Amino acid sequence: MDYGIRVVLVMNRKGGSGASTLCRALASAAAARGKTVTIFDTDASTSCLRWMRAGKAAGNRSSLVEMIHTLDAHRAEL
Ligand SMILES: Nc1ncnc2c1ncn2[C@@H]1O[C@H](COP(=O)(O)OP(=O)(O)OP(=O)(O)O)[C@@H](O)[C@H]1O
Ligand SMILES: [Mg+2]
Repeated sequence: MDYGIRVVLVMNRKGGSGASTLCRALASAAAARGKTVTIFDTDASTSCLRWMRAGKAAGNRSSLVEMIHTLDAHRAEL
């Protein structure tokens, strides 16, 4: 059954709790099943952005996964 668009919020007030890791795992799992994914990264640490870039550089970035930088992420030093 197709449930349409799903929105999953991954956040935690405490840093280093695995939020970005879980986000990347969920995005990878969905893309592996042929789903398109848009990650809205609001984290100044830009770990998801760097993950996307590393995947692209390694030649294994999925075209199904898109990244949008929001809030303070776009102001971070890259
Ligand atoms: N299930 C897990 N088991 C062991 N280590 C983990 C697990 N999930 C994440 N980590 C490790 O914990 C560290 C922090 O994870 P992550 O960057 O995903 O957390 P975060 O909540 O996004 O942190 P930040 O506050 O910096 O954004 C990383 O080194 C990651 O590899
Ligand atoms: Mg994070």
